Amino acid sequence: MTPNSRVENLLQKMTVEEKVGQLHQVYCESPVDPAGIRAGEIGSIIYSNGAYAGNDRQTAIPADETNALQKAARESRHGIPLLVARDVIHGYRTIAPIPLGQAASWSPADIEACTRVAATEAAADGINWIFAPVADVGRDPRWGRVAEGYGEDPLLSGTLIAAAVRGTQSVEGVAACVKHFAGYGAVEGGRDYNTAEITPHTLRNVYLPSFKAAVDAGVKTVMSCFNSLGGLPATANRRLLTEILKDEWGFEGPIVSDWNGIGELIEHGVAEDLRIAARLAMIAGIDVDMVSKGYRDHMPSLIAAGDISIGKLDDAVRRVLNLKDSLGLFDRQPADSSRATSVQLSSANQETVLDLARKSLVLLKNRDGLLPLGEQRKIGLFGPLIHARQTLCGTWNLDGRESDVVPLETAIRAQMKPGQELVMAELADEAIYRARSCDIAIVVLGEHHAVSGEANSVTRLELPHGQEQFLEGVKNLGIPIVTVILAGRPLAIPRVLEHSDALLWAWHPGTVGARAVAEVLFGVCNPSGKLPVSFPRSVGQVPVYYNRLRTGRPLDPLARGESRYVDERDAPLFPFGFGLSYSSFRYADLRVDPSGDGFEISCRVENQSPRSGEETVQLYVRDRVASATRPVKELKGFTRVSLTAGAAATARVMIGRDDLGFFDAAERWCVEPGMFDVWIGPHSDVGPAGAFELK
Ligand code: BGC
Repeated sequence: MTPNSRVENLLQKMTVEEKVGQLHQVYCESPVDPAGIRAGEIGSIIYSNGAYAGNDRQTAIPADETNALQKAARESRHGIPLLVARDVIHGYRTIAPIPLGQAASWSPADIEACTRVAATEAAADGINWIFAPVADVGRDPRWGRVAEGYGEDPLLSGTLIAAAVRGTQSVEGVAACVKHFAGYGAVEGGRDYNTAEITPHTLRNVYLPSFKAAVDAGVKTVMSCFNSLGGLPATANRRLLTEILKDEWGFEGPIVSDWNGIGELIEHGVAEDLRIAARLAMIAGIDVDMVSKGYRDHMPSLIAAGDISIGKLDDAVRRVLNLKDSLGLFDRQPADSSRATSVQLSSANQETVLDLARKSLVLLKNRDGLLPLGEQRKIGLFGPLIHARQTLCGTWNLDGRESDVVPLETAIRAQMKPGQELVMAELADEAIYRARSCDIAIVVLGEHHAVSGEANSVTRLELPHGQEQFLEGVKNLGIPIVTVILAGRPLAIPRVLEHSDALLWAWHPGTVGARAVAEVLFGVCNPSGKLPVSFPRSVGQVPVYYNRLRTGRPLDPLARGESRYVDERDAPLFPFGFGLSYSSFRYADLRVDPSGDGFEISCRVENQSPRSGEETVQLYVRDRVASATRPVKELKGFTRVSLTAGAAATARVMIGRDDLGFFDAAERWCVEPGMFDVWIGPHSDVGPAGAFELK
């Protein structure tokens, strides 16, 4: 860390209590009493009204209020500005698709643009610390927080996380906070906050890379996770926080605990009381205490007793002050309170978010080219979610407003041609009654937003009660059915697939996401989303991620008694990377050419349809023999190609020598010579194959 003279001068002058104040984060519902800030007792605030913030409505934060708080901070003895944090998970006022949906775009550029929009809107209200992005690799759809991350693959997640960090921090004076470090996505049984048991090998190869990508992209802060890992809560885990994150990766910013993470060390059973919890957390490497008050109440006496050294305290305070200085907060003018109205929900912001929503939609089935809709005269729009507004925005929508949301009906009507008629029904019996006279039925099913996100783990992955029967009822009439699913997680829906002639996975697509859905249904937009996570057939298959390690008894469709279930097919319902288009792409002529210290893998992709379209071309490799068991397949790169009708192009992906390495059980990075199989294709299951030798 290069010494910063402003920060070092402050450290010289501050009392222990003032230093501890910088590490103390309070939560508040608007409005906040500025007295504690003026007294130098509070270094940051989290604007949130409780631990289940992701599921609760929140009070808006007016810029006048954050300005008043900053004024109080400037009036404190050292005039140190305040960090003002908010969970801006997928948009502030203009809500983008949930992150899992964003990941289906496989588009770092769009994610960078949308995180910039979110940060710009939040900054207009004086927010300078954004508690996102979520780098937790999610392999278990029972865990509600899969909605918040970028899926099951470390490379895809890491690439998109880096884009989100760049987008957020491209806004002057805003810090991103990558979370939840680390291994939270592996909670046992998919039950939120539960224990995670991850071997060092899997931690290094699967769960840490997206955090490393965030650090390499310059993320300014990191949040630790709630769960324990290998028998030790992350909040007290020195190996994770200090040895790996700070020492090995050279992370220089502050680490903030998750909500009352320090207090929870008592419930974890590793601390008798809050004083011991505070000591453990500080030793482990937690710099900022989110809301537990453990640092505020006990750090001065821990210092006095010599249980925590002043050097350790100074290191934590230095990280916070350096952050404040690097954001320019010491010299910042108050936020212009009239700016929010012109910035938030601007048409430019809505357009940017709409672009991402378009790319996030995944077409999973399209029997006989039923979609896009054509000349059907009477269109039915049925299902319990046809009037959804909040649900379109998904979990962790704290600042979006219901009245801003474009509902499906409006979006669909905007695409209808003269002479077309829309009939609607929310209830099954009414839908069946009305569907009789329709030429086509669009059935909108899925999950309410309140059942995904934090603390929302499930044991069943089918649609909510009655929805499958709803679909069956309409299906029995014999009219073509387009099913649109709104959901925060992958669901196991083989029967829905069977009953649907076309199936569009829309996630929770955001404020203007319904427009994207309507554009895809009517063919104004050609779908291009690809699943960032495998979809199971049944909950018993979970986890069913594609990049599983090889076994001594590989899955083989012809073999009996191998590593498989006797009562379920082996393959997931949809493989990782899957997604259809209205165009059809043909892959051929895979080539491997040495390039630099690695290889250029290329493949000819031809659009064999009369429609222009975009395709995400995916490259997978398998290490044939290594000193450790390696995955059956691993994503190593991807690229998006745009092809007009009948056009062909060569898609190229580079693999460097280092991209072929892995961590072994002793956490050593190994790049081993030998043969590698390689595939380029439209998803993780198919595509022309080749091989190359790493010398
Ligand atoms: C969540 C975090 C969030 C924090 C502050 C916690 O319950 O796990 O993701 O940033 O609350 O709202």
